[in-house]
Amino acid sequence: MKTLIKNAKVVTSDGLVDAAVLIEGSKIAAIDPAIQTQVDRSVDATGHYLLPGLIDDQVHFRDPGLTHKEDLAHASRACAKGGVTSFLEMPNTIPNATTQKLINDKLELASKTSLVNYGFYIGATPDNLDELKTAVRTPGIKIFIGSSTGDLLVDNQDTLERIFAETTLRICAHCEDEATVRANQEIFAGQTDIATHSKIRNHEAAVIATKRSIDLATRHNHPFHVLHVSTADEVELISTASNLITAEVCPHHLFFNVDDYDRLGSQIKMNPSIKTRHDNAALFKALLDGTIEVIATDHAPHTLEEKAKPYPECPSGLPAVENSLALMLNEVSKDRCTINQVASWMSTAPARVWDIKSKGRIEVGYDADLVLIDLELKQKIDNATQQTKCKWSPWHGTELTGWAIATWVMGRQVMKLEHGQYIFDETRMGSEILYEHS
Ligand code: DOR
Repeated sequence: MKTLIKNAKVVTSDGLVDAAVLIEGSKIAAIDPAIQTQVDRSVDATGHYLLPGLIDDQVHFRDPGLTHKEDLAHASRACAKGGVTSFLEMPNTIPNATTQKLINDKLELASKTSLVNYGFYIGATPDNLDELKTAVRTPGIKIFIGSSTGDLLVDNQDTLERIFAETTLRICAHCEDEATVRANQEIFAGQTDIATHSKIRNHEAAVIATKRSIDLATRHNHPFHVLHVSTADEVELISTASNLITAEVCPHHLFFNVDDYDRLGSQIKMNPSIKTRHDNAALFKALLDGTIEVIATDHAPHTLEEKAKPYPECPSGLPAVENSLALMLNEVSKDRCTINQVASWMSTAPARVWDIKSKGRIEVGYDADLVLIDLELKQKIDNATQQTKCKWSPWHGTELTGWAIATWVMGRQVMKLEHGQYIFDETRMGSEILYEHS
C-alpha cells in the first residue's frame, strides 16, 4: 500500500519543509515536493502541518483489571483522535505489571485491542529485583517512590539503592515523599476541602522525593526520568543535574493551579497535586529553555461517579490523552511556542529518552506514524464527544485553536475528521514499540 500526503508543511527536525510525504507499507519512503509515483491513495494536505505521531510516555489505561474506568480499545481510540500514535503505559493495572510474564500478557492483549502502538513499563516492588534486571520488551522501570493510585510503593532506601545499582533499564519515578505526605495527612486529618490535597501533597513532598531520586541516579550513574514535574523548585534541581537525568511535565501542571479548585473541585485532584500560578509559569519556561524535554499526560481516568465522592475518598487522576496535542497547539496559536517545539516535546524527545527505534521524526526509513494538523481549526472540548471510556474532561467547555485532523499508525490511516465527525478505521491494530536496548 502506497499513500502520498501532498502539499503539507512537514515538521522535520531541521525545521518546516513544504513537501509531499510518501508512505510505503509501514515506513516513510520519501519526503520531496516533487514526488511523481503511482500510489493507492493521495491526500491533499494544503494549508496543514504534518507532525511525527505523538508518543505519550505516561498513561494509565486500566487494562486489565479496572476496565470500568478505561480499556485499551477506548483509550487507544482516544489516542488516535488526539494524534498520539504510541503510548507507554504504567504498571498499576490489576494485576500489577511486575514480571516479564505480565508484560508479555499486556503486549498480547494490546496486539488484539490497541489501535495505536503500545509499550508497557515494568513496575518495581520491594522484592522483584531479578525481574527488573532481566526485563525485555519494555521501555524501562517504573518506581512509585511515593504512593499514588494502587499499591506499588517502594520507599525503602536499601531496596532503592539495589534497584539503581543492579539494573540497566532507564528508571522513571513518581516523586512525592511518602513521609512528608503521611505527616501532612495527620496535620490535615478531618479536612474535607479539596484544596487540602495540595497542602498534603505539597511542594516539599515533591522536592524531597525528586532530590532523593536524582541523588540515587547520580551516585549509581543510572539513566533516570522524573515523571510529572509539578514545582518550580524541582525545575531548579533538574537544571543542575547531569544529562543522565531527563524530565517531563503534564498539561494539568502547566494549565491548572490551586485557584482552579473552586471551579473544578475533585476533577483536578491529581498526584502530584496541582500547585500555584508561579509553578505553571516556571514549568512552561523550563520547556522553552530545554530543562524539561518531554510532555506526557499521565492520563489517569476514573469515572465521574468515583470523582464525585467527598474529599479525601475521591480518587486522584484525570483523563487527557485525546486533548494534550490541542492544548499545546492552542499555545502555538497564542505565540507562546512553535509547532516544532511541540513536535520535539511530544514526539522526538520521548523517542530519544526511551530509546525507541524508528519513531519521533519524519525521516526516510522511519515508521509512518504521522498526524496532520489544522492549526486554525477551533473546537470546544465536550464531555459528550470524548472517546475515553470515562467520558469526561476537566477541560470540558474550553475552546482550543489547532487540532489533529488525520492520524496514521504504521502507514495506515486510523482517524480522519470529516465535517466535524471523527471517523476511525479499526480493522487493524497498532504494533509493539521496539527499543534500541532490547
Ligand atoms: O493522580 C494520579 N493518578 N497520579 C498517578 O501517578 C497515578 C494516577 C492513577 O493511576 O490514577
